[in-house]
Amino acid sequence: MDTTPVYLDCDTGIDDALALAYLLASPRAELLGVGTVSGNSDAAQCARNTLDLLALAGRSDIPVAIGNHDFQAAPYGGGSPHVHGDNGMGGVRLPRSPREPEAETAAEMLIRLAHEQRGKLHVIAVAPLTNLAEALRREPRLPELVAHVTIMGGAALAPGNITAAAEANIFHDPEAAAEVLAAPWPVTLVPLDVTMAEVMEEDRRRRLADSGRPVPEALGRMLEHYFEFYREIFGRPCSAMHDPLAAAIAIGDVAVTDAPSVRVAVETGNGPARGATVCDLRGRYRGNGDQSGAHCRVVLEAEAGFPDFLVESLMRAF
Ligand code: BDR
Ligand code: CA
Repeated sequence: MDTTPVYLDCDTGIDDALALAYLLASPRAELLGVGTVSGNSDAAQCARNTLDLLALAGRSDIPVAIGNHDFQAAPYGGGSPHVHGDNGMGGVRLPRSPREPEAETAAEMLIRLAHEQRGKLHVIAVAPLTNLAEALRREPRLPELVAHVTIMGGAALAPGNITAAAEANIFHDPEAAAEVLAAPWPVTLVPLDVTMAEVMEEDRRRRLADSGRPVPEALGRMLEHYFEFYREIFGRPCSAMHDPLAAAIAIGDVAVTDAPSVRVAVETGNGPARGATVCDLRGRYRGNGDQSGAHCRVVLEAEAGFPDFLVESLMRAF
């Protein structure tokens, strides 16, 4: 099986941790580096979380770089401890890895890997797009060097999750998101429309938490915190599949069943729609065809069954 070389940009984060573990578990992905950015926690804490999880998984060979602490138009505002816990990992304390982050920044790592993998690198971004926007400014040839960018972010027809109109990753740095979505590279946007459509249920979480194996057990314990947050939204303990679903779509493990290529603009004004992803879906009454010249595929529907597939992949691999 051909493997996909991947750079992951994340704000680890409980569902980021799931995405990371999923990429390690998938035989289709070759994870070459991880960059962090502030979002769920600050960029340095996210790097620590990533290093510790990689060590637990026996993959301390994968380099981790700290990216931007602040967003383009606003300073980091303290993250989301109510969603991801005080340390971003639902309060779960992993053994500290002796490994430290790289000397290079996340943007530098992305640019380096894009050159090394010329035309082959897949970028998976499951966090605010601050690092990607910085990399684009530093290396204007980046779109030619990268094979594909998959972004967990936005809300096409679904409501937002941090405001009525905006999804968290886009809302934290809409200026960066606007730059990244305007750049001439092929993008797959995995919005709330699909990441909220199918959730992980409590029996699946328990399968991880009670496995007696370090990685699934740690993830299952983290998810307990995440499930409590989603209890308010879904009326039962469960969790959305934001970041791991985006990772699975990026490497071709989950097929998309409705994903038109359309123009996507990001609202950067300071009104109530700040951070909204305005997807031109006027073609949906004719079957959601592709718009000529558009380079952003917006996933509106994906193959069913991902939460079970994710849990079974993790149980097999770790
Ligand atoms: C996104 O925001 C973060 O809290 C999650 O990790 C995910 O990337 C969902 O809106
Ligand atoms: Ca994330």
